[in-house]
Amino acid sequence: TSPRIVFSGIQPTGLPHLGNLLGALLNWVKLQRDAGPDDQLIYSIVGWHALTLPQDPQALSAARREMLAVLLAIGIDPERSIMFHQDENPHHTELAWVFNCITPMGKLRRMTTWKSRLATSRNTREDSEVDESLLNAGLFTYPVLQAADILAYKATHVPVGEDQQQHLELCRDLADIFNRAFKEDSPLFPLPQHVITPSRRILSLKDPSSKMSKSAPDVQSRILLTDTEAQIRAKIRAAVTDSIVGVTYDPVTRPGTANLLTILAACTDEDVVEVAKRYSDKGHGHLKNDVADAVEELIKEPRAEFERLRGEAGYLNAVARDGATKARALSEATMREVRGRIGL
Ligand code: ADP
Ligand code: NA
Repeated sequence: TSPRIVFSGIQPTGLPHLGNLLGALLNWVKLQRDAGPDDQLIYSIVGWHALTLPQDPQALSAARREMLAVLLAIGIDPERSIMFHQDENPHHTELAWVFNCITPMGKLRRMTTWKSRLATSRNTREDSEVDESLLNAGLFTYPVLQAADILAYKATHVPVGEDQQQHLELCRDLADIFNRAFKEDSPLFPLPQHVITPSRRILSLKDPSSKMSKSAPDVQSRILLTDTEAQIRAKIRAAVTDSIVGVTYDPVTRPGTANLLTILAACTDEDVVEVAKRYSDKGHGHLKNDVADAVEELIKEPRAEFERLRGEAGYLNAVARDGATKARALSEATMREVRGRIGL
């Protein structure tokens, strides 16, 4: 198989919760572990994307620094993966402008994510009426920036959750539109593929009809990387389930119970249906105890490593600087070709 170029990004909008870890970040570590010697892994902290919703500048600055410590703490290795701040490589916004100028407005209008991001940020339901006065142009066009993030490195593989599938589709469309519009001997951009990672949507511990999210007002609804063992146990003990006797995996009628099983299966890398079988004659108390054990086991080391690293400003700066240098060198080559083809 030919070498893969993997790209993924995470916004610096706060400490990751269990949903971010199980749904996204720990998959990055797995990809790194399973990568071939010629595969290139590129992981970016995408600060420009965070600006599409209002941010407190001080909080953003802290979150930006902390996210790098998080990536290191969970096991992303700067020797094996390029890890950098998007805002330290100007080629992302440069290429995004080129793409903005070939993106049909209709395609952007059909993206559903800006609606849900707006709704999440306002704590309203995703299907409620969108208040267009809150819609800035950046929120509308950030999928174009995302396409630039990916294609600046000619990435071939992108691990994304279900919620981002539409954006990857747009990215492929834009690569194809560019390739056709500026055709030379060969197409410039690859059409990046989705990397299938186990799609695990972790739900709120307090309202299992919604996903675990950093913007939900109730902090008991999520487990953070920095939660102590006691906090983890208390949150899981208080998780909303149901009064049905016994444990079964039934996401539709028993979402709270199913969510606990999903978390357990994700932590231990097992099949959720197999896990459920072990609890068929046990109660919620027993299950919650085991979920808390598994989550503590998962988080223990990265939590300690994060606490150690977050104060290592010199080391974090050095990693960021080195990562940005490597990233720029790759995207520089792409931008030279892009400029050559478009005539600027
Ligand atoms: P949040 O919704 O908490 O603000 P983001 O939108 O910043 O999180 O998502 C960062 C990454 O984590 C994305 O890849 C997203 O798909 C993933 N993610 C977020 N919440 C969950 C969840 N509850 N379960 C699984 N994956 C999630
Ligand atoms: Na979100």
